[in-house]
Amino acid sequence: MNHHMNDVVVIETTKQYADAIEVLQRQCYPTLDPTLLIRRVHVESQIAVFPEGQHLALIDGVVVGMSSTLRLNIDFSDSQHTFEEMIAGGYITNHDPQGEWLYGADMSTHPDYRRRGIASKLYDARKALIKRLNLRGMVGGGMVPGYRFHKHEMSLETYAAKVSAGELHDPTLTPQLKNGYVVRGVIYNYLQDALLGNDATLIVWDNPDYQG
Ligand SMILES: CC(C)(COP(=O)(O)OP(=O)(O)OC[C@H]1O[C@@H](n2cnc3c(N)ncnc32)[C@H](O)[C@@H]1OP(=O)(O)O)[C@@H](O)C(=O)NCCC(=O)NCCS
Repeated sequence: MNHHMNDVVVIETTKQYADAIEVLQRQCYPTLDPTLLIRRVHVESQIAVFPEGQHLALIDGVVVGMSSTLRLNIDFSDSQHTFEEMIAGGYITNHDPQGEWLYGADMSTHPDYRRRGIASKLYDARKALIKRLNLRGMVGGGMVPGYRFHKHEMSLETYAAKVSAGELHDPTLTPQLKNGYVVRGVIYNYLQDALLGNDATLIVWDNPDYQG
């Protein structure tokens, strides 16, 4: 059945979807180190720690996308960090209720539902939260699944610059850029993915309405 984007509903995550989230994670990250996947224990902790930061995209009640975030203060002079430490192994117990940035713990759309604006809707929910809380913006470590095809000919910095300029397209970085992120640097050994690589880009979206 063809669905129009109006059929997509974004809600705050509830525990009843924990099993569906576990399945979605495996479908979206088939080659990621499985210890980094979000499971029920993490969902329960995330909802307890920062419920407003957890979102699901549903079509007819079925989970087709998810976004998970926490609040942190970020030191941009030292951008090297790991995914695991930034999200406290998925439990987000390092969430700082006074943190000035929204940090992306996850953004994923079911493979059969990609390129229909679902991630953009979830990013819109994040941006609305950022504006409501008057945060500085959002930060993430963005995977670059397309880099492996160019690794022999250019550095990750050059690749990110070419994707930013629209000269190359990356399945993950391009949607992030379309949603307003800019690349601020690269993060080495951010996570472990046997196929897609371990390095990532440091991506930042500045809240245009931030009142300092
Ligand atoms: C990255 C991901 C979340 C994007 O989800 P999505 O729902 O397909 O994204 P959207 O449909 O909202 O696309 C947003 C924009 O990016 C573009 N885009 C999406 N995928 C693209 C691709 N593979 N190549 C080029 N552009 C792409 C869309 O055309 C759209 O552009 P527009 O605003 O000009 O119309 C999804 O591909 C995914 O789950 N990937 C695997 C998990 C992952 O890597 N998550 C991020 C970890 S850092």
